Amino acid sequence: MIFTVAIDGPAASGKGTIAKALARELGFAHLDTGLLYRAVAAKSLEGQDPVEAAQGLDPGGLDGARLRTAAVAQEASRVAAIPAVRVALLDVQKAFARREGGAVMDGRDIGTVICPEAEAKLFVTASAEARAGRRYRELVAAGQEVTLEGTLAEVRARDARDAGRDVAPLRPAGDAVVIDTSGLGIEEAVSAALAVVRERLGR
Ligand code: DC
Repeated sequence: MIFTVAIDGPAASGKGTIAKALARELGFAHLDTGLLYRAVAAKSLEGQDPVEAAQGLDPGGLDGARLRTAAVAQEASRVAAIPAVRVALLDVQKAFARREGGAVMDGRDIGTVICPEAEAKLFVTASAEARAGRRYRELVAAGQEVTLEGTLAEVRARDARDAGRDVAPLRPAGDAVVIDTSGLGIEEAVSAALAVVRERLGR
């Protein structure tokens, strides 16, 4: 069975949590495509050329914990605006989308560029304040020294860069179902998403 759930949305909208929960619930494979850009960003911060880093990337075994820092996130949003970086990451993502057994992918351009034929498309969003609050609490819990104001400024900067770039900008696909998680808890957001996917899947 080929069935792709494409989940796009801005930073800290809850799309990663929803994607993981859907994959677990449905028994589908999951790919957090942001990790690919973060891995390229980490290499770029070490001084490697981002295009070469993307071309040589081994998508297996990416270390999520090391890649989830504010500095890597900002650099990821910068390298993601380089067309040749996006091209280098295209094939691995397209193949994942159409793998046998079902796939859930979360990112910025899954429903628009990577898999326009996805059977279910969600655009998960929330206010910048709600997203910054969540990201701030995550970073503090991970022991990082950040402020709420700084986190909000970074969320806004990343939104502007991700939505304003020329290639594959962040935007909902015309046929995506929009879920605003500003006032929703995790369980409510997951069940709203699951209802949409189950309806498409017929189970
Ligand atoms: O989802 P994330 O916060 O881990 O993503 C980090 C950055 O990577 C994000 O600011 C933009 C970029 N990205 C992208 O351009 N396309 C994707 N499909 C996923 C992430």
